[in-house]
Amino acid sequence: MNDFIFHNPDKVYFGKNQMEHLPEELLKFGKKVLLVYGGGSIKKNGLYDTVTKLLKANDIEIFELSGVEPNPRHTTANRGAKICKKENIDVILAVGGGSTIDCSKGVAAAALTETGDVWPLVSNRVWVEKALPIVAILTNAATGSEMDSWAVISNMDTNEKIGLGGGALVPRVAFENPELSFSLPTYQTACGAFDIFNHVLDNYYLAGDATFDMILEFQEAVMRAVVKWAPVAMKEPENYEARANLMWASSMALNNILDAGTVHGCACHAMEHELSAYYDITHGHGLAIVTPRWLQYILDEKTAPAIYRLGVKVFGISEEFAVMEGAKKAIEAVSNFCFNTLGLKANLSNLGINDEHFKNMAEHACFGGVISGPKNLTAADVEEIYKM
Ligand code: NZQ
Ligand code: ZN
Repeated sequence: MNDFIFHNPDKVYFGKNQMEHLPEELLKFGKKVLLVYGGGSIKKNGLYDTVTKLLKANDIEIFELSGVEPNPRHTTANRGAKICKKENIDVILAVGGGSTIDCSKGVAAAALTETGDVWPLVSNRVWVEKALPIVAILTNAATGSEMDSWAVISNMDTNEKIGLGGGALVPRVAFENPELSFSLPTYQTACGAFDIFNHVLDNYYLAGDATFDMILEFQEAVMRAVVKWAPVAMKEPENYEARANLMWASSMALNNILDAGTVHGCACHAMEHELSAYYDITHGHGLAIVTPRWLQYILDEKTAPAIYRLGVKVFGISEEFAVMEGAKKAIEAVSNFCFNTLGLKANLSNLGINDEHFKNMAEHACFGGVISGPKNLTAADVEEIYKM
């Protein structure tokens, strides 16, 4: 177990009746708010009206950045930073899924730079220590952005999608009302659920070197919750218990509790971000296609016991198999979850992706080195996994 510091300053209001606290939390930072949202889901489900009425009733001045894209663009974040600079915005209110929250983080960081351009921060991998405060209202259980220090920003001109990190990017306050995800379409529910699952799996002790049993059990509990509740939420979108389990799992998966004492891994994420950078696909779907192939690729004598344990603990497969056979059954269970239970299409070709850019994507995913994890992956390994 490695030494670690745990510090997550995000204050979470979880549940149905918490929105009344929004004005008091915003007013701690000031009266000028930049309201950031996506393509309009919050207008359709009434959340926009609820929030703006509440803010106006408390004399909070609202400025808006709308139209944040899934896979948010640096140009949109820059648009927001410009508004912040011009209007002296005090606090950013992100209302939406991971893309909206990530874009808000990009805005928050860029607004305090001289140029107001987020891309140099992203491309130079600057650790952001200074940003405007962010308050988030989460509508999609998926990325963990509501409680983590990361934003993922895309530059479609250069086909790059890169993480921007920093202590200053953790939202100061997050509102998590599972009811706000009732309107989420089935496909987004499935993709979000798999994103949560993979955030945990990417950090799971697949190399079999677990020395922190409590964390291992926590990780398995979160993956089990996703496996149990995602299909329920897909069938019954207004099932509060299902939405609540998924929403808190989303936050738990990346708020640093589950990787305390571990080496943070992100193999599938590094490979997936290239897919969405080139093809603008939905992040969780890309992960679902990559993950079972990655497990197959790294399966060997060393990883087999942990992969088998995953199958037993998370998918309830029998403990009676020989280790290698059990590990193969576990990988089948992951595939089955992705492509049958969640109903996601199983191949990159289903998403219109061919091998044209595999080499470049693989090299970029490795940043000129290797992707570290239970088995370090070179660019050649990554290319093989894309081909699978
Ligand atoms: O844009 P609107 O109209 O709001 O619609 C969105 C969007 O079309 C819709 N939606 C969200 N909540 C809804 C809803 N529709 C109806 N009812 C609701 N309650 O769903 C679509 C997808 O939204 P998006 O925010 O893009 O999804 P998600 O939360 O999965 O975020 C994905 C982005 O986050 C990044 C991904 O790479 C991707 O760019 N990630 C961020 C991470 C982080 N900050 O730590 C880590 C993740 O691994 C991930 O990479
Ligand atoms: Zn993710």
